[in-house]
Order: sequence, then C-alpha cells, then structure tokens
Amino acid sequence: PLVTSKEMFRKAYEGQYAVGAFNVNNMEIIQGIVDAAKEEQAPLILQVSAGARKYAKHIYLMKLVEAAVEDSGLSICLHLDHGEDFEICKACIDGGFTSVMIDGSKYPFEENIALTKKVVEYAHDKGVVVEAELGRLAGIEDAVNVSDRDATFTDPDQAVEFVERTGVDSLAIAIGTSHGAYKFKGEPKLDFERLEKISDMLPGFPLVLHGASTVLPEFVEQCNTYGGNVKGAQGVPEEMLLKAGKYGVCKINIDTDLRLAMTASIRKYLYENPSEFDLRKYLSPAREAIKNMVKHKMRNVLNCSGK
Ligand code: G3H
Ligand code: 13P
Ligand code: ZN
Ligand code: NA
Repeated sequence: PLVTSKEMFRKAYEGQYAVGAFNVNNMEIIQGIVDAAKEEQAPLILQVSAGARKYAKHIYLMKLVEAAVEDSGLSICLHLDHGEDFEICKACIDGGFTSVMIDGSKYPFEENIALTKKVVEYAHDKGVVVEAELGRLAGIEDAVNVSDRDATFTDPDQAVEFVERTGVDSLAIAIGTSHGAYKFKGEPKLDFERLEKISDMLPGFPLVLHGASTVLPEFVEQCNTYGGNVKGAQGVPEEMLLKAGKYGVCKINIDTDLRLAMTASIRKYLYENPSEFDLRKYLSPAREAIKNMVKHKMRNVLNCSGK
C-alpha cells in the first residue's frame, strides 16, 4: 500500500540507517527505483517536486506510483518535495500523497513556524505526515566565517523550539550539503558537530538530509566521454552519508544521481548507436542504470537493504 514514513523512520532511527527518498519525474525512473527496492527488500520514499508535478501532471505521477505499489507489492511513501506554500501541500494531501514537505526555510523563524504549523494541522487531520526545513542549504565554503555559518546552517536550539512548536514529523537541516552536481569546490566537508548536537537535543526525532547525492564519478565521466560537458562536479562522499545515518538522519534525498545515471546511459547508447531512434532501445538501459545505482545506494550508502 501507500504508507506514511512514520514506521519507516521509527525503524531507521532505531537501526541507525536511512531511507532513500528518490525524486521521480516519469515512468522509467519510477520503475528503475521500485525494481531496486523490491530486489533489495528496502523501505522506499518516492518524492515529487513542484517541477515534476508541472512536467508530468499530478494525476500521472499519482497513478504511476499506485501502479508501482500494486505491481511490486511494496509499501511506498509518496512525498511532496519542497512544497513552497500551503496550497501545493493541500493539493497533494487531497490528491493522495502520504507525506508533504513545507519548505519555509526562506522565511524568518516565526513565519516558518506559522506556515509549517498550518500545514501540519491540515495534514495530520488527514493522516498525512509533514517534513519542514530550518536553515538554508549552502556549501561550507559559501559561509566564509563562523557567524556566516551560524546564519545559514541550522541552529540546534532553534531546531528544538521549531519541532516543539510546530508538531512537525521530520526536519530537514542544513549542515553543508547543497542541491545539484556542484556541492564542493575543494575538499567535501559537512558540519558533523552541528548534526550531532541537533541529534542529541532531539532524541528519537527523524532528521532529513537534502542535497545528498554522491555525484558518482563513473556517471560524470560517462557523460563527458560521450559528448557531455559536466565539469568539476562533486557530491557528498558515501562514508559521510553512512555516518549521517547514525546521527538521527532517517531520510536522504537523491535526485542528481538519478539524473546523471539516466543521462550517462542515454548518451552512451546514442553515441554507440547513432542510427537508432526507437526510444525503448535507449530508455531500457537507462532504467537499468537507475536500478543498479539505487541498489548500490540501498546496500552501501543508506544501509537499508533488507530492512
Ligand atoms: O530539490 C530539488 C530537487 O532536485 C527537484 O528538482 O525542482 O528541478 O524537480 P526540480
Ligand atoms: P541532490 O541534488 O543532491 O540529489 O538533492 C536532491 C534533493 O535534496 C531533493 O529535495
Ligand atoms: Zn531538497
Ligand atoms: Na538514521
């Protein structure tokens, strides 16, 4: 069935691992991820951004995920990624999602609280869970000094107050990860001291890591070998994500790695088969590439296989 992430997070917290939350935009991506979860017997969150809803339409994604549940027999959580206002959260709650994110991180603390609270009240009434965000995603080198960093990264005391006052079910925090393929200019670095502090102050509470793709070098290289131009891309090292899973992080968001896997595969296929134009020919290996990449994550990075 479609389920909330409540039980998944409870088990992930206890077991010190993380559940993967994968962004989906079309059928092949959904099928690749769901096949991986089935083979790994892993918990699964599929998430949909506003951009994905615009691209594929809410109803298509909803029906595809329902088909995935029915076909695979898996329990899947369907989550709205980065909901920017009450209206989009309401549309997804009313439209069958089991989880929504209200991202009020760009607002001042009190406004973020008020907005999050409003979504929590509406969602909980309908049995839907809510993720919020506190702090702004930015790389460590974007914050040149300590006070800069304090202004951007999640403040532990504020996190506790935020969770208490909103009644939110999980919280995305900023400790140095960022969205996309260019996360670090030099050495990858995350503020684990901050994560540990937040985690200690919120015992039993699930934290969420956004911008957590590893940007696998093999896919970047494959893109560049077959006509692409993806230079200087760098993601979060696998061992850092494994470590985060031990400090209360129960949900790890992955989009960029899906995009890179699929694009690398399609580039290679079309380069090697320039006269081919049956899209099933290049989307099949692309779907397979997603499956294998997700399986690798579940086993070695999220540590959620068989859980
Ligand atoms: O956080 C952003 C996700 O990667 C979704 O990206 O808004 O381009 O669909 P998108
Ligand atoms: P990546 O860009 O690192 O895959 O992060 C995705 C994300 O956080 C979606 O909300
Ligand atoms: Zn995100
Ligand atoms: Na965890």
